[in-house]
Amino acid sequence: MKLIMLGPPGAGKGSQAKIISKEYNIPHISTGDMFRNALRNETPMGLKAKSFMDKGELVPDEVVNGLVEERLQNEDCLNGYVLDGYPRTVNQAEALTMILDKNNQSIDYVISIDTSDKTVIKRLTGRRTCSNCGAIYHIDNNPPEVEGVCNFCQHDVIQRDDDKEDTVRNRLEVYKEQTQPLINYYKDLNLLVEIDGEKDLSDVFANIQEILEASE
Ligand code: AP5
Ligand code: MG
Ligand code: ZN
Repeated sequence: MKLIMLGPPGAGKGSQAKIISKEYNIPHISTGDMFRNALRNETPMGLKAKSFMDKGELVPDEVVNGLVEERLQNEDCLNGYVLDGYPRTVNQAEALTMILDKNNQSIDYVISIDTSDKTVIKRLTGRRTCSNCGAIYHIDNNPPEVEGVCNFCQHDVIQRDDDKEDTVRNRLEVYKEQTQPLINYYKDLNLLVEIDGEKDLSDVFANIQEILEASE
């Protein structure tokens, strides 16, 4: 099964992708996580990406497309994957279609999580992320069992640099200008399913599951 998670920053793409990945045993491929890992390892790509991420701007398409093309060649992708945060521009969507065509593959569903600006701001300003394994928390909705400590790996739980309110607002603008057009792009390809992202985490997952299982 090959899925794309689409939606504004803070919609819950990462949270849902992690559950889907576990439930269906397919890798969770998050370009944002890949850049944050590269930055932690101080690679040239990580340092380059940081200058865009800190402002809430997108990393240039050619960097992202190359990174994803390489990742999708990995053996763990043979049975499918869940893409989170990619594609994010029409150029990236077209590049992905080309990568898939080359391998005679196609996407099964594009899951678009609808969430209001107000909800997004509340979720992102309260989000905390594990500095080691990337587990996602929220100070009110989903706090770690011990404050500041990851449930899974016991490392520190921190606030992402781009979750400051000003940067969040810019990320939302960038989403509307550059990523939202993908909703119609995938609607036209008959791949889009829209999910109400205002519900709580488990209800959103239940809705996604209904769609995935109706097709089996
Ligand atoms: P990326 O890491 O992809 O960030 P994003 O798209 O802005 O999305 P987020 O990770 O902020 O939100 P999410 O939808 O995953 O929400 P989450 O599940 O964490 O990208 C970061 C940056 O990297 C970009 O700005 C760009 O610079 C660069 N980049 C990455 N990919 C790129 C690409 N393809 N091209 C160019 N540049 C790229 O949930 C948020 C919070 O809400 C959490 O606290 C969670 O606990 C809570 N929550 C989630 N769902 C619910 C719910 N249903 N109810 C209550 N709380 C919830
Ligand atoms: Mg995310
Ligand atoms: Zn952790």
